[in-house]
Amino acid sequence: MQKLSIQGGVPLTGAIRVAGAKNAALPILAASLLVPEPVHITNVPRLNDVRTMVKLLGLMGVKTEAGEHDVRLDAASIGEPFAPYELVKTMRASILALGPLTARFGEARVSLPGGCAIGERPVDLHIKGLTAMGAEITIEQGNIHAKAGRLKGARIFMDTVTVTGTENLMMAATLADGETILENAAREPEVVDLARCLVAMGARISGHGTDVIRVQGVERLHGVTHSVMPDRIEAGTFLAAAAATRGAVTLEEAPVDALDAVIEKLREAGAAIAVGERTLRITMKGRPRAVSVRTAPHPGFPTDMQAQFIALNCVAEGAAHVTETIFENRFMHVQELRRLGAHIEVEGNTAIIHGVDRLAGAAVMATDLRASASLVIAGLVAEGETVIDRIYHLDRGYERIEERLGALGARIKRLD
Ligand code: EPU
Repeated sequence: MQKLSIQGGVPLTGAIRVAGAKNAALPILAASLLVPEPVHITNVPRLNDVRTMVKLLGLMGVKTEAGEHDVRLDAASIGEPFAPYELVKTMRASILALGPLTARFGEARVSLPGGCAIGERPVDLHIKGLTAMGAEITIEQGNIHAKAGRLKGARIFMDTVTVTGTENLMMAATLADGETILENAAREPEVVDLARCLVAMGARISGHGTDVIRVQGVERLHGVTHSVMPDRIEAGTFLAAAAATRGAVTLEEAPVDALDAVIEKLREAGAAIAVGERTLRITMKGRPRAVSVRTAPHPGFPTDMQAQFIALNCVAEGAAHVTETIFENRFMHVQELRRLGAHIEVEGNTAIIHGVDRLAGAAVMATDLRASASLVIAGLVAEGETVIDRIYHLDRGYERIEERLGALGARIKRLD
């Protein structure tokens, strides 16, 4: 299993280009199932999860051609509308095939995702929403089986804000008969990017970016070329790494409008951040100050940045409270960060971090994607060598991390 070795203690300096957003690319690739014409998606990050989604679509009979950072898809006809357990268990976002398949083909079978490292993560709201639109849904042999004639528009209230739930139902509604109103919808920028892509395909959607999305169903959608938005979590991770190492880094092609909560907290930590049209420049002079955060749906502080901010707080001046409100088990990085010398207590869904003067390198293990990002940040700060095991978690969400951080001066290499 591949590992990452980091010799810490070097401030990150230089410029880095932000890659396309994983969590926008995945639903946008799934949206190709809605269209009987070729679709061309650009600015696609090269990540394991993207490869899994392309493989899944290919298995269903979609013609796929993946370039370095683009994917061509043609779902003129498909074979089996089935997402098998082997793929769903490696990537929960496979559930994003459910809405489009049901809407266009009147049938879908998607293996029921199990719990995962960060929490239970049910998909009841996806199922309830499709049922409200007229689909008949049963669970058979571990698969969600949906059957429908043409879906019908409906008013759907989701009692928890769900990102992929909103995306699944918004995609399904594009081909439904009549109007669908999604209430308490997710406002995440990735939902907005998907909506923009669907609109370019001919969908009639309004309200994306607010908590009420209206979709007027159409008979059919058409082919499109769409460029995926830049990844706000990758950008936020680089900003946190620059702050923790007391560096000076420019992010190019940055999603400057999607990072308000993160930028605000980094400024509170003492970083100077200059926001350009498509660039962000962070400079951190001196030791960061501890900053408390509480995760919340967008535009609140993203749960996908929680682990990285715990890492930043590990070496900050003072104590911080970091509260996780979205997932029930997202503190797996805490025990690994302690191995590097961090002082962290966990009480319920809050981590209390007392900043220390120095961390010291050690062998640690990645448990999930963002946990592994926090270990990279801590490793970049720690004195001596940190070796991170199970970095396939990291490869799910960060493209060629060692090369790109290496270009910023980090002493980092992949070990086979
Ligand atoms: N939930 C339900 N019922 C549902 C759906 C969700 O109770 O039917 C609950 C979940 O258990 C959770 C909360 O709602 O407590 C929010 O979950 P959500 O559905 O929004 O999460 P998701 O759509 O499965 C996406 C991202 C995650 C990110 C979350 C929250 C993708 C592919 N994944 O997951 O990304 O953490 O939204 O912002 O978009 C990551 O990139 O590391 C990652 C985990």
